[in-house]
Amino acid sequence: MRSTIIAAAFAVGALASPTLMAKRDCNDTCMTFDQATAVANNFKTLISDYSNASADAFMTTDFQDYSDSVTSLIDSGCTGPQPLGSVTFDGLEAFKAGQGSQPNIPFEILNMWYACTGPVVIRWRSAQTPNVITGNIVMETERDTTGAEPWLIKTVYSEFNSGHWLVNLGVFVPNCTADGNPANGPTGSAKRSVKRSLPMRMM
Ligand SMILES: *[C@@H]1O[C@H](CO)[C@@H](O)[C@H](O)[C@H]1NC(C)=O
Ligand SMILES: *[C@@H]1O[C@H](CO)[C@@H](O)[C@H](O)[C@H]1NC(C)=O
Ligand SMILES: *[C@@H]1O[C@H](CO)[C@@H](O)[C@H](O)[C@H]1NC(C)=O
Repeated sequence: MRSTIIAAAFAVGALASPTLMAKRDCNDTCMTFDQATAVANNFKTLISDYSNASADAFMTTDFQDYSDSVTSLIDSGCTGPQPLGSVTFDGLEAFKAGQGSQPNIPFEILNMWYACTGPVVIRWRSAQTPNVITGNIVMETERDTTGAEPWLIKTVYSEFNSGHWLVNLGVFVPNCTADGNPANGPTGSAKRSVKRSLPMRMM
């Protein structure tokens, strides 16, 4: 795990930045395993033990969070007020206003991957009831030398099982006596063709 490189992110970085090889010496400009772990744990703190002071310390002021999963929660599964496919929190203050008004959320990091130039990727689980929620997050970071954190979270791409989260919130009430049988499903005449595409229909 320590040496894992995210191939896709790395390839994009190589295209965008011809100086990438020079940054790979695990010098000041190259993220270490311990620094990547700190970034991952900083994000966990923002979700599970939030404070505005932590947000100020851990994130860039031009922070952006892209998450249709979060948008689905904000919209309660409807198409507004937050549009799908666009930035969910545009800026640190928007994140603080949104996250700061949420109760703390149980958050356990299951896996972490990282690359020299800063992307940190985690897989996580939130032990909610009745349904456990799992998700993945790609975090782009920026080197910073002005504060205690050497790498600040700049852009987040986060998706998770928002369908079951909406069930946990009571927004969606599943009919579990239908037992996964499309003949018993709630979708009317399309029911025979529904089963394979059910997750998409829920989103
Ligand atoms: C770290 O990077 C600086 C700037 O590129 C360079 O001058 C220095 O020699 C490097 N140190 C090591 C240990 O590679
Ligand atoms: C945290 O920051 C947000 C956004 O600036 C603000 O709305 C909120 O009142 C702040 N919370 C506290 C406890 O200061
Ligand atoms: C749930 O599904 C079962 C089986 O199709 C059906 O008999 C029942 O009416 C449904 N209940 C609700 C509340 O839709």
